[in-house]
Amino acid sequence: MRTSMKSHGCGELRESDAGTRVTLAGWVHRRRDHGGLIFFDLRDSSGLVQVVVHPERSSAAFATAQELRPEYVVRVTGEVVPRREGTRNDDLPTGAIEVATAELEVLNASETPPFPVNQETPVDEATRLRYRYLDLRRERMASNLRLRHRVVRFMREFMAREGFIEIETPVLNVPTPEGARDYLVPSRVHPGRFYALPQSPQQWKQLLMVAGFERYFQIARCYRDEDLRADRQPEFTQLDFELSFVNQDDVMALVESLYASLCAELGPQYRLPHPFPRLTYREVIERYGSDKPDLRYGLAIADLTSALAASEFQVFRRAIEGGGRVRGFAVPGAAVTPRRGLERLVELAREQGAGGLVWIAIDGEGPVEGLAMDAVRSPAARFLDAATVAELARRCGAERGSLLLLAADRDAVTSKVLDALRRQVAEEHALADPSTLEFAFVTEFPMFEPDATTGGWGAVHHLFTAPFAEDVPLLASNTGAVRSQAYDLVCNGQEIGSGSIRIHRRDVQLKVLELLGIPLDEAERKFGHMLTAFTFGAPPHGGMAPGIDRTVALLAGERDIREVIAFPKTKSASDPMTGAPSTVAAAQLAEVHVALAPDAEQAAAGALARPAV
Ligand code: AMO
Repeated sequence: MRTSMKSHGCGELRESDAGTRVTLAGWVHRRRDHGGLIFFDLRDSSGLVQVVVHPERSSAAFATAQELRPEYVVRVTGEVVPRREGTRNDDLPTGAIEVATAELEVLNASETPPFPVNQETPVDEATRLRYRYLDLRRERMASNLRLRHRVVRFMREFMAREGFIEIETPVLNVPTPEGARDYLVPSRVHPGRFYALPQSPQQWKQLLMVAGFERYFQIARCYRDEDLRADRQPEFTQLDFELSFVNQDDVMALVESLYASLCAELGPQYRLPHPFPRLTYREVIERYGSDKPDLRYGLAIADLTSALAASEFQVFRRAIEGGGRVRGFAVPGAAVTPRRGLERLVELAREQGAGGLVWIAIDGEGPVEGLAMDAVRSPAARFLDAATVAELARRCGAERGSLLLLAADRDAVTSKVLDALRRQVAEEHALADPSTLEFAFVTEFPMFEPDATTGGWGAVHHLFTAPFAEDVPLLASNTGAVRSQAYDLVCNGQEIGSGSIRIHRRDVQLKVLELLGIPLDEAERKFGHMLTAFTFGAPPHGGMAPGIDRTVALLAGERDIREVIAFPKTKSASDPMTGAPSTVAAAQLAEVHVALAPDAEQAAAGALARPAV
């Protein structure tokens, strides 16, 4: 931490430095006047140290210290002295010593910050982002960014050790079909033409495999114009990699080793069950209703249809007759849930598209054998008998004292509803251990899904993903049943990364494009470079792209990836500090051959007065 202006970092000083004369520079964190003495904590990027100013030691320094306010930038020269017994602070690495000031110089003053930098008090998002440089001074954000640095550095070193080489790929591209909208950049030189910012380096990394590198990686910035959520930013970072002559197991083994060794490197605070289970898409949808299940708790979903096939209850009957199923899970010990809590769960189920939710509370404790209906409470009670309830409970693995939650509808609906309910119940009952990272791979995704807008098929992962060899004959005959060699890394209910084995043959790629409704001439126009590359000895290859923002947020225990990004955007993709996106001068637009639509022109005129937030 030594520079020409300072001899040490504030946070580096220890008892063994007692007697040393030091020069420190940093920010005034907190100041306290103690009858005749002034104390302040001095902060720099290495930590905090207590500084004491005695009037008799230096009257000039004392006079300056009286003027200090939080966030002033100062330089202190003085001697490291042990603190008196009883005044040590064991919570601070420098808590055994303080610096007795001989000289004190204010290098720069500070206005009163819009929020306290020395406390983690809640501050509204817009203010935090408007003064992000102050927000980043706060301990939580600073330590998140330090963690991010360690993670990225570890990833780089790990990949290099594994024989990967880092190659940069262009940011000005033709569109990459990853499923989101592109950010477009107009070309000045080619009127009417646009570059697209990469949604990922997908095509480049495949071309690098054709180029014979065999192992590529990149800490890649990606850009997607999509609806933003806690785990989505318009620009984000991936550990993007690709390798040749591999199958799915090779890629998953590599990623598992990366994450296991990363957590080992970061310290013992993370519990990381190992090896990561591999679950098929079908399995996770059936048991958890989600392709990114939180495996830290049970609450597994059971099929209850056959136990209720004879039920007179309309909700069950209608669903079963309409080709749906009754599915549900049990919440142990939750039979006591008050009515308001139950109403909230019903409400949540409705929000997720269910007609309703049937709950069954089984009072008492112990096994359900010999259950009588007086221990059962449910809005559907009069359609149930004790033997049926006991059977439902058994299928859900439940005992007395449990609350059963049942949804009846098509699978797509019950999955969505039960997934949301599982997450909600786990949250309310604090079932998920925050210090556990429960990773898993989800495999055997369907290759295609119905595309609501075109009425045809869409790619579940992306259109370069290879089908299982044994499913290739089904491509034309039973498209919906084709499984792809795609895999996701999930952890604690989130998708952390995804990847696939790719198509490396032109004929297969053309077949897939055709199924996706892309005719030959359009395929040639959009993907001709890939199709041609495949004809020059493209090796079998595959890869993956774990999201770095999501990985760091997970490790930092943050729910929102903005907490691990230095300068993120708001939920409406703007930056309250710089005012991006901004309007541009008419001349600049003309230069890139762009004219605004009348409504955009009007909006832009308004925006001149008021930046976007
Ligand atoms: P995919 O689109 O699934 O795959 O993205 C991979 C990972 O990138 C992260 N991610 C995001 N993180 C923050 N904000 C976003 N808007 C966002 N979108 C995606 C997630 C996700 O799991 N080219 C393929 C990968 C491959 O096949 O190798 C791809 O980009 O963590």
